[in-house]
Amino acid sequence: MSEPAQDLAGADLIPTLSPEETAAIEEECAHLPDRESAAIDAMMIVQRERGWVSDASLAAIARLLGMSVAALDSIATFYNLIFRQPVGRHVVMLCDSVSCYVMGADTLRKQVEDHLNLNMGETSADGRFTLLPIVCLGACDRAPTMMVDEDLIGNVSAEQLAETFKGYE
Ligand code: FES
Repeated sequence: MSEPAQDLAGADLIPTLSPEETAAIEEECAHLPDRESAAIDAMMIVQRERGWVSDASLAAIARLLGMSVAALDSIATFYNLIFRQPVGRHVVMLCDSVSCYVMGADTLRKQVEDHLNLNMGETSADGRFTLLPIVCLGACDRAPTMMVDEDLIGNVSAEQLAETFKGYE
């Protein structure tokens, strides 16, 4: 049985979702055996609208799904593509798992950091890019890999960075 929704300690929560977000989440729930199974989809729906999932959004989603905030937060923490902090307009995720590491992911990270003028985990001053690490993207045959928003890019080289990032204003 689901636990009742609980607030995150110290969070300033105003648990509200838009009618559109609520409708989209309810539509996901309708296709699933239980409401908790819609957790990731629900958070992605809200993230698409708001750019990230704040504590208040998390609490609102948990309440709608009839689960605890803590349980939903643990799913969000486990799933790399849910952003629990504000991010830039575009999110660059560099794979740091074994195949990419062997193929120069660490060097690539430094090159991307230099190119975007930020460090891993940071957002550029103009709010254009956030750089984050990610585990294996399932494209090891094209290592090193990265994702920019929802685009998977393989065989990444320093030479192509300028051209690649130009497409994300
Ligand atoms: S290790 Fe990077 S895509 Fe698999």
